[in-house]
Amino acid sequence: MDGPRRSHYLNLLGIDTYRRRAAGDAAAHAPQAVAATGVPRAAAARQGEPAPASAAAGAPVVAAVAAAPGAARVQAPADWSGLRAAVQDCRACKLCATRTQTVFGVGLQSAPLMVIGEGPGADEDAQGEPFVGRAGKLLDEMLASIGRARTETRPEHAVFIANVVKCRPPGNRDPESDEVEACRPYLDRQIELVEPRLIVALGRIAAQRLLSTDTPLSKLRGPLYHYGAAQTPVLVTYHPAYLLRSPREKAKSWEDLKRVHRLLRASA
Ligand code: URA
Ligand code: SF4
Repeated sequence: MDGPRRSHYLNLLGIDTYRRRAAGDAAAHAPQAVAATGVPRAAAARQGEPAPASAAAGAPVVAAVAAAPGAARVQAPADWSGLRAAVQDCRACKLCATRTQTVFGVGLQSAPLMVIGEGPGADEDAQGEPFVGRAGKLLDEMLASIGRARTETRPEHAVFIANVVKCRPPGNRDPESDEVEACRPYLDRQIELVEPRLIVALGRIAAQRLLSTDTPLSKLRGPLYHYGAAQTPVLVTYHPAYLLRSPREKAKSWEDLKRVHRLLRASA
């Protein structure tokens, strides 16, 4: 990443904190022993380790969870425009009743990086695009700091941004499990079609729902997980809305972003 962009994000992060810690505290960067309690067969892979390889023998597995018994699982079309159209008309869960419109996702369909959030908020519901509110502005800055943008058409700088549910939960409540499971075939198909080299799950809800676990974010952050049929590597980091509320965590977010950048470079 180049200097100006980097320092822009560092400024934005109020990165004095980062510099102070980084200077004297090598331990802060050492691999932490994080037990991924509750996450099926998840194991750690951290900085300095091999690039994310998909489907290596014995790799940690996080399988897509089947929908609740009896629930009709939506059939997600296998082509991008069909998938987009199916999401637009979807009524597979109760969120369809309160949405203004669905929020499919934004970015390059062949992006090597996929970012997955929780669900549309009021701004996203109104505009039909993920992360366009205040948290979205911060997400854009975070992505810019590693040389990426949602409008980028060169794959090596591109990103695709989506959410675990495509419709806004009313009153900005967390999406419920049945809603996430109803919507999962769309997300799984998006992942299958984008074929990202790395997925970044933003925040506790996205990470827990994606990985089907109750493990707290503090523990989920750190290990590299693998998701779905292609065993796509998944990193968990803080949600930008959380960073706006808890600026103390921004230094750790910057560490995560640098790791994302390294993993993508190493797997290019
Ligand atoms: N927060 C999310 O998780 N997703 C969005 O699209 C917007 C805010
Ligand atoms: Fe369909 Fe997903 Fe919207 Fe529910 S959240 S109605 S499953 S698109």
